[in-house]
Amino acid sequence: MQDQDQTSATPSAWSGRFNEPVAELVKRYTASVSFDQRLAEYDIQGSLAHANMLHAVGILNAQNLLSIQTGMATIMDEIRSGQFLWSLDAEDVHLNIEKRLTALVGDAGKRLHTARSRNDQVATDVRLWLRAEIDNITPLIKNLQSALLNLAEPNAGTVMPGFTHLQVAQPVTFGHHLMAYFEMLRRDGERMIDCRKRLNQLPLGAAALAGTSYPIDREMVARELGFDGVCANSLDAVSDRDFAIEFTACAALLMTHLSRLSEELILWMSPRFGFIDIADRFCTGSSIMPQKKNPDVPELVRGKTGRVNGHLVALLTLMKSQPLAYNKDNQEDKEPLFDTVDTLNATLRIYADMISGITVKPDAMRAAALQGYATATDLADYLVKKGLPFRDAHEAVARAVRHAENRQCDLSELALDELGQFSNLIDADIYEILTLEGSLNSRNHIGGTAPEQVLKAIKTARKIIGD
Ligand code: ARG
Repeated sequence: MQDQDQTSATPSAWSGRFNEPVAELVKRYTASVSFDQRLAEYDIQGSLAHANMLHAVGILNAQNLLSIQTGMATIMDEIRSGQFLWSLDAEDVHLNIEKRLTALVGDAGKRLHTARSRNDQVATDVRLWLRAEIDNITPLIKNLQSALLNLAEPNAGTVMPGFTHLQVAQPVTFGHHLMAYFEMLRRDGERMIDCRKRLNQLPLGAAALAGTSYPIDREMVARELGFDGVCANSLDAVSDRDFAIEFTACAALLMTHLSRLSEELILWMSPRFGFIDIADRFCTGSSIMPQKKNPDVPELVRGKTGRVNGHLVALLTLMKSQPLAYNKDNQEDKEPLFDTVDTLNATLRIYADMISGITVKPDAMRAAALQGYATATDLADYLVKKGLPFRDAHEAVARAVRHAENRQCDLSELALDELGQFSNLIDADIYEILTLEGSLNSRNHIGGTAPEQVLKAIKTARKIIGD
């Protein structure tokens, strides 16, 4: 960190009340500028809206407003070009900017903080920043959904084993399987948008905690900053970070969904399954085992999910038992939140690209679906449709499966008279039912795995995301 103050004895914004300068170690411990400088542009945006309002209600004269605007433009340039000298002595992003403003424009800079506090200022900055990040993230979710649709469409009829307990259960299509993740991401996207609605309320005006004695116009500031309204209670406005927790919870769920898909990609890519191949650019080799191609990206997504879940717990723990109103604890909200956003951004970008680079191996998927008696339920349903109570049908088919297992063959490979030993309701038409395609096609209703339904679901999905 560059330090524009020459000595630690430089008075801080609040040192007037103290008899000795703050200890060096404490200064480092309490400063947040090393990370909260990330909020700088939103801090300036908030300050400009505040200054406009102070002028409109007659607290700040036109000359002062102009000085603040000019000074802030210079500061914005300095920050963007990397020229700005961030100072540890000025503690945080807010005081750094205010101090520089005063150095540039004099008294007008000192008047900016009228009718506000860093408490409502920081709450506003974080909301503005997070709102912009949510607006960056939602299109990334859509991109990933679109990549899933592009892989699902040509595989709407690609048969694979569907699993429960990771045991072969019933045949499904690969397209149908991928569409399950589309649905998860759809809810994740909706949750983000919902979170944005709740966070889009203006804290400024709450001042330190109780409001302010100046004749401020909060609605004007809210309008200028694009908030839907103002926080209705000043104590709540400066103290709660529920919006950050809610966002992180949405992010943790999204990552959890991607960690599930990652786990499947890892399994499917292992030679034991051999269902897919992931493009080389998402994998690494081993320095000792020449044959290895490791699915590093999905493994890391799985790992980084732990990191985001950790941030959620950190933020919940940070908030837990805090008395009203603002407490310095809240300064600790930023790093977990920033890291959550960074992790989510990078993961969503890389994931869409990785999904587009997947090669499907339909023969291996089909071969796996043919093992494990995936159509046993279809045989039971066939018997039920011929009048047998389901429990009896279940019992008859279980015995047939045991028989086929001893013979080491599939149900469809048993001769009609062999199958007939288990129920006299079984006729030659059973062989259509026992095929993988027969099983798939019979599940032809909304949400079912029949290829026709999967294609319909993909079409609807494209409409939903405007693809
Ligand atoms: N850096 C502080 C934070 O992030 C800003 C608010 C500080 N307010 C205070 N009264 N010390 O929360």
